[in-house]
Amino acid sequence: MKVLGIFGSPRRGGNTEMLLEEALKGAEKEGAKGERLYLTDFTITPCKECHGCDATGNCVILDDMQKMYPKLLEADVVILASPIFFYGVTAWAKALIDRTQPLWVRKYLLKDPSLGKEGKKRKGFFISVGATKGPRVFDGAVLTVKYFFDVLNAEYVGDLVFRGVEAKGDILKHPEALQQAFEAGKRLVSDLKKSRGGE
Ligand SMILES: Cc1cc2nc3c(=O)[nH]c(=O)nc-3n(C[C@H](O)[C@H](O)[C@H](O)COP(=O)(O)O)c2cc1C
Repeated sequence: MKVLGIFGSPRRGGNTEMLLEEALKGAEKEGAKGERLYLTDFTITPCKECHGCDATGNCVILDDMQKMYPKLLEADVVILASPIFFYGVTAWAKALIDRTQPLWVRKYLLKDPSLGKEGKKRKGFFISVGATKGPRVFDGAVLTVKYFFDVLNAEYVGDLVFRGVEAKGDILKHPEALQQAFEAGKRLVSDLKKSRGGE
């Protein structure tokens, strides 16, 4: 079972990175193979809305996103971690999300069965933090991520979000946070194993 962890913060060693690392460790503890994608290591141009994918379901922009499509499709579980930037995910994460438009084309225009009801069922999980404490601080990002997961045929099974987290390491002020992330990673894998009949 493959668990793809997408690190969407430009700040290495930051709060969402700490949380996602724990979630991946939890998933690995449960026997999954974790893969770590630090988006700052790649060049992913924003979608140009050129409609170059409409006929084929393939993106015509030949940058590092081309390496991401197979990874996204091979994954059984996708965990996206992004802090809140201006009430949404970071531009790094949004660029990757927007570039999955060719998969949207495959699923909804070309009716590719591998992304339909008979296709592989994935699980998606979102991790986020924000500096403020507003009740709606995660709303925009959650909605974006739900539609991202939908394109991947990944059920949005949940999220782990923390308010009042700003400086590097602030997440440690939530004493249970890292343990919660570890347990979430473990649970994602064990639940998927169960739903697939003890794989
Ligand atoms: C460009 C930018 C925009 C931000 N916008 C918000 C925001 O709208 N709401 C909020 O609560 N925090 C906002 N923050 C704070 C970050 O979410 C916070 O610092 C977070 O801990 C960063 O996560 P990281 O440590 O994983 O990089 C913003 C930070 C930056 C740099």
